[in-house]
Amino acid sequence: TDTRGTGHAHDHELRVSKIQNGTVIDHVRSGQALNVLAVLGIDGSEGEEISIGMNVPSDRFARKDIIKVEDRELSQDEVDVLTLIAPDATINIVREYEVVEKSRVDRPDVVEGVLSCSNSGCITTGDEPVTSKFDVLEDAVRCAYCETIFREDIPALIDT
Ligand code: CTP
Ligand code: ZN
Repeated sequence: TDTRGTGHAHDHELRVSKIQNGTVIDHVRSGQALNVLAVLGIDGSEGEEISIGMNVPSDRFARKDIIKVEDRELSQDEVDVLTLIAPDATINIVREYEVVEKSRVDRPDVVEGVLSCSNSGCITTGDEPVTSKFDVLEDAVRCAYCETIFREDIPALIDT
């Protein structure tokens, strides 16, 4: 069968074409696509093929962002950080045009070593090496050391 999607009922709604091999990060919160790419360290400078849809209609939400990256699969660390800015994302692994694996991201209770606290008085920003640790809340993260809560500014804390 033709897996390139000509028979799919919703194809007239496709904004971004299907990919052959790679990862589709779907159901990303509106407005977060560029932050997701920043987390993954993807900026196109290495010739990666990337498609981004922003504020496209969604079944699940009013609007969503979607990112398609050719020839790239994600590590668990990358997925963990993604959950912080795109908690409802679905990660689809595509091989030869077919979705071969689909997983909802699982929000961890705690993330260690992936974010840096931006409170200059925090012990984790001092000279002694202390691995950062944040408790993951419903819609925010809280530094386990100084208890500062970060919400919209989470992307700025990401270690890259
Ligand atoms: N996709 C793609 N290229 C492919 C196959 C799928 O870009 N070769 C994209 C689809 O456009 C969709 C996502 O990957 O955005 C997931 O594909 P699929 O599981 O077929 O769609 P749905 O069933 O609608 O997904 P869900 O139930 O997760 O919403
Ligand atoms: Zn702190």
